[in-house]
This record gives sequence, C-alpha cells and structure tokens, in this order.
Amino acid sequence: MERAAKFLQDAGVYYLATVEGDQPRVRPFGTAHIFEGKLYIQTGKAKNVSGQIHANPKVEVCAFKDDEWLRITGELVEDDRREARQSMLDAYPSLQSMYSADDGNAEVFYFRNATAVFSSFSHEPEEIRF
Ligand SMILES: Cc1cc2nc3c(=O)[nH]c(=O)nc-3n(C[C@H](O)[C@H](O)[C@H](O)COP(=O)(O)O)c2cc1C
Repeated sequence: MERAAKFLQDAGVYYLATVEGDQPRVRPFGTAHIFEGKLYIQTGKAKNVSGQIHANPKVEVCAFKDDEWLRITGELVEDDRREARQSMLDAYPSLQSMYSADDGNAEVFYFRNATAVFSSFSHEPEEIRF
C-alpha cells in the first residue's frame, strides 16, 4: 500500500473514476495520504464526485509516471472523524485555503478491498492488495 501511495504522490496527478448510473465519470485528483495504515483521498461533499461515491463506493484510479502506470480498483469508505480530515489537511497545506476539518464540506475516504496493479511495457503486471 505504501508503494501505491508513493506512486500516486510522485505522479502528482491521478484520475479517479466513479460510476453515475450507467455512466462512468472521471476527473483529475491529487490527494493521496496514508493515515493509520490506510490510503486516503480527499474531496468536498458539495462535489458531484462525492455524491457518486456515496451512491456507489466502487471506484478506480489510474496514474502514469515514468514508464509505469498504476491502476487501483476498490471501494471508498468515508472516515468521518475530525482527526482523519485534519491529517489530510496537514499533509496538503494548500487545501487549507479551501477546506477546514470542521467546515461540513471536507471529507476523506480510505480504500477498502483494493487491488493495485503496477503495469509497464517492460515488465509483467505486479499486483498488491490492501
Ligand atoms: C491536478 C488536480 C488535482 C486535483 N485534486 C483533487 C482532489 O484531490 N480532490 C478533489 O476533490 N478535487 C481535486 N481536483 C479538482 C477536481 O478534479 C474537480 O473538482 C472535479 O470537477 C471534481 O469532479 P466532479 O466535477 O465530477 O465532482 C483536482 C484538480 C486538478 C486539476
């Protein structure tokens, strides 16, 4: 899991796919943070992406860096604890101009039942689960 988190952080940008009915939705994301041994991402409750995750927590993430790409398939679980939100905001100080842990908007999710596959044209896919 640490390897997956580091890959997302080093890539800087990853693409988060959700499902809305029978329509895939995808957008760039950047937050990737380990808290209490789990991989967290952050968003705002006001965003469509949040509503999609709450309606259907199955998501997929894809990032590309150097000659490798990473795909993480799993479910997102909201962690509604203030300390979880604050840990994310501490890791990404730039978010603090838009969010605070108590604003009723910021929210964090961690991955559950996740499968991460590291792929490249030069090596066989490597799979980890967390
Ligand atoms: C490089 C980059 C990183 C981003 N990271 C995040 C993020 O971690 N969390 C977030 O909620 N929005 C992030 N955004 C903004 C979302 O992509 C944007 O709000 C998007 O419209 C949300 O999806 P939605 O319109 O389906 O709700 C990022 C945007 C860019 C360009």
